[in-house]
Amino acid sequence: APPPVVAPSILAADFSRLAEEARAVEGAADWLHIDVMDNHFVPNLTIGLPVVTSLRAATDLPFDVHLMIADPRRWAPGYADAGAYNVTFHAEASDNPVSLAKDLRAAGAKAGLAIDRDTPVEPYLELLPHFDTLLIMTIKAGFGGQKFIPAMLDKVAAARRHVDAGHLELRIEVDGGIAEDTIAQAAEAGADAFVAGTAVYSAADPAEAVRRLKTLARR
Ligand code: DX5
Ligand code: ZN
Repeated sequence: APPPVVAPSILAADFSRLAEEARAVEGAADWLHIDVMDNHFVPNLTIGLPVVTSLRAATDLPFDVHLMIADPRRWAPGYADAGAYNVTFHAEASDNPVSLAKDLRAAGAKAGLAIDRDTPVEPYLELLPHFDTLLIMTIKAGFGGQKFIPAMLDKVAAARRHVDAGHLELRIEVDGGIAEDTIAQAAEAGADAFVAGTAVYSAADPAEAVRRLKTLARR
């Protein structure tokens, strides 16, 4: 199995110093997780394409863009064009996820499918050959700093069985409440990409926090 990926979420960073906050995890982080929220699909509001475009020039880290927005067909390809490594949109917001995944791949990005807390994974398993990442929320999408929901790991395990049985090349990513006390159980269930906001950016040394998480994610 490929080594685990840790993706610090800048949702927990200082938004007035995004370039510095991104550089603070260079050398330790694998991807930089960027939460785009539209005050519609989720109640919270964060940043959009202009900020991602500007930040793209400020760091070499691959961008893992997590779109918590309505109408991803309209907006997602723009993030691929802006140089995102992976663009993840929500299954709940998309009426044709496979078609959008194809568009993202054609635009040069990897394609990710996200499922929120109340969405089962089974209906989406057959779509996974069209995706590079499956993001399983381990909280309800919308805000950082929430408590990890262990019951979500049943979805991770089901996805892992399906991915392994089908020999799919797909990362299973978890997002929400990932910290030193929860990451090992997510890895044990079969996740191999880990988003961490609070656990990284509330640490005195964010890069060291990433390294510690990565060690705990090895299984
Ligand atoms: C929430 C976002 C997460 C958030 C996680 O909807 O998708 O990426 O940053 O924050 P923590 O790690 O604090 O739970
Ligand atoms: Zn996220």
